[in-house]
This record gives sequence, C-alpha cells and structure tokens, in this order.
Amino acid sequence: MKKILILIFIFFSGLMSGYSQSCDFTETSFLPDEIDTSVVSPDSSRPYALIAGGSKGIGYALAEALAKRKYNLILIARHLDSLLAAKQKLESAYAIHVEILVHDLSKEESATEIAKWCMDRNIKLKVLCNVAGHGGPRDYLLTSLDTLRYMVRLNVESMMALSLTLLPLLEKNAPSCILNVASMAGFAPIPIKNLYSATKSAVVFFSYSLRYQLKKKHISVSCLCPGPVFTKPEIRRETEKRFGWFGKKMAVSPKRVGEIAVKKTLKGRLIIVPGTLAKVIAVLIRTLPRRTVTSLYAKAGD
Ligand SMILES: NC(=O)c1ccc[n+]([C@@H]2O[C@H](COP(=O)([O-])OP(=O)(O)OC[C@H]3O[C@@H](n4cnc5c(N)ncnc54)[C@H](OP(=O)(O)O)[C@@H]3O)[C@@H](O)[C@H]2O)c1
Repeated sequence: MKKILILIFIFFSGLMSGYSQSCDFTETSFLPDEIDTSVVSPDSSRPYALIAGGSKGIGYALAEALAKRKYNLILIARHLDSLLAAKQKLESAYAIHVEILVHDLSKEESATEIAKWCMDRNIKLKVLCNVAGHGGPRDYLLTSLDTLRYMVRLNVESMMALSLTLLPLLEKNAPSCILNVASMAGFAPIPIKNLYSATKSAVVFFSYSLRYQLKKKHISVSCLCPGPVFTKPEIRRETEKRFGWFGKKMAVSPKRVGEIAVKKTLKGRLIIVPGTLAKVIAVLIRTLPRRTVTSLYAKAGD
C-alpha cells in the first residue's frame, strides 16, 4: 500500500513539475501571443521567426502557427521546390513576408552562413525554431558511419551551433525565444532507436540548461517533445505496426502540434508534449526507473 502511495505521489509530482509549471517568463508574458493583425500588407519591419527545417511537416506547421500571429518568416531546408511552395502558401494566406534559404544544416558552415545572412540584413529575430532532424528505422547497429555522423550533426550539432551563432540577434531583439524540437524518444533510452533517442535526449538536456543560461538575457528556451506525428506515411505505418491502436490514439496531427508548440513557446513553457495521452505516457516514462523503461521499449521493439 505504502509503495502504491509513493508511486502515485511520484506520478503526480512529475505531472506537476514537468508540464503544469510555466517558467518565470510566463508571468511577465514575455512575448505577445498575437502581434497586431490590423495591418494586412506584408511588413518587413515586423518581428521574424527563423525555422530551421520549415518547409514540411512539423516545421511547416510551426511556420503556419507563427504566420497566423503575423510573424514574418525565414524558412530553411535543402530543397528549393518545397521551400518555394511553402513561401507561396504562407504569403498568400497570411499576408506576411517569407524569406527562404537553401542549406543543408548538417554542414559545418551552415550556422555561420545563416547567422551572417541575418545579421547583414539586421533581421528583427524574435523566434528561432530548431526543427530539422533525422530518424528512420535503421539505428546504430544497422547504420553506416556516414549516417551516424549525419544524424548527430543534424540532430544535435546544428541545433547547438545555430542557437549560438544567432544569439547576438536574439539578444538584441529580446525578449525572444528558442524552440528546440526533440521527441518523446529523448526522455528514455530506446534500444531499437539508440542513436535517435540519444541525440534527442541531448536536445532535451541542452534546452534545460540553456534556459537557465539565457534567463538573464530575456531569451526563453522551450523544448518540443512530441510522440508520433504522422508527417509521412512511413511514420504512420511504423507507429501502427509497433503500438497498434494505442499508437494511433497517441498521435497528434502536425497542424495541432504546430499550434500547441507555438502557443506554449510564446508563453515561455519549457517542456512541451502535445496531446493528452502522449503527456501521460511521457510522465510515466520520466517517472519509472530507467532500466524498466529501457526493457519495456526493448520488448516493444522485438
Ligand atoms: N514526425 C514525428 O513523428 C516526430 C515525432 C517526434 C519528433 N519529431 C522531430 O520533429 C522534427 C521534424 O520532423 P518531421 O516529421 O516534421 O520531418 P519532415 O516532415 O521530414 O520535415 C523535416 C523538415 O526539415 C528539413 N530538413 C531535413 N533535413 C535537413 C537538412 N539536413 N538540412 C536542412 N533542412 C533539413 C526538411 O526539408 P528538406 O528535406 O528539403 O531539407 C523539412 O523542411 C525532427 O527533428 C524529428 O526528429 C518528429
């Protein structure tokens, strides 16, 4: 009985500390949730949000949620065609200004070049979203060294490098914010997704510490940790295969993820897990002993 009570206590205290508490910035409402929407023509003097990996999927959904709030956008991706399509859609629907930059974020020089581009134009940067990441079914034991390096560079290094090179602009335009996209996979070691969960846990830990480091500069740091988001057919297939009905129930649409993430980021929340079921699972994962969670994940992967 005593053990059960302790477990219930841990469960609910985890729930409270992980998700219900907003950061200090919330109390001072550090960024407006909505910018003046009375002006309908694109105005490049309005604040900008830069989305690294913003042409598709969750990144595009974040772009749309920010465009709705009249942020101008800088979208970054590798393929010009999807960037152009995103630009056209967002500019015509929301009367904002969208800049597009073609970069492979896994390349060492990207962060410096992007920051230089922004500084040369004195971009009024208020929001940085580090979204691009690589996952996939082949993880660690089945991965080539090239893929391993690509994943670490894209998932971890590019997010850390871009946050650092853009810091002067974010500081100049403070209050401002950084949203790093991790995953629920970052809350625990997952044997069948070893490399992916390890890189995403680096994103989570980095975000926690960076938040403290940047507090005095009035730059808020948030970390989005979604469960399954069906941005591509293979994600739907894999989720349904591994977790069946439960996986489908846990999934949240990209649009909803974007809306929740932007709303909570602008309110200064630290950890953002969209979806009620995903939130409950995330609390359990973070509360149960790590060895238990690792073996449960290993069983689900067999
Ligand atoms: N979908 C999920 O179930 C899920 C769940 C939890 C966490 N996440 C995380 O959420 C993030 C986005 O996932 P998603 O499913 O939305 O992905 P997605 O649909 O594949 O979109 C990824 C975006 O990033 C860009 N991108 C990819 N690699 C890039 C690179 N090397 N350099 C520059 N841009 C790059 C893509 O454009 P280009 O291809 O043109 O470069 C695209 O705009 C990832 O970090 C992922 O780990 C996803």
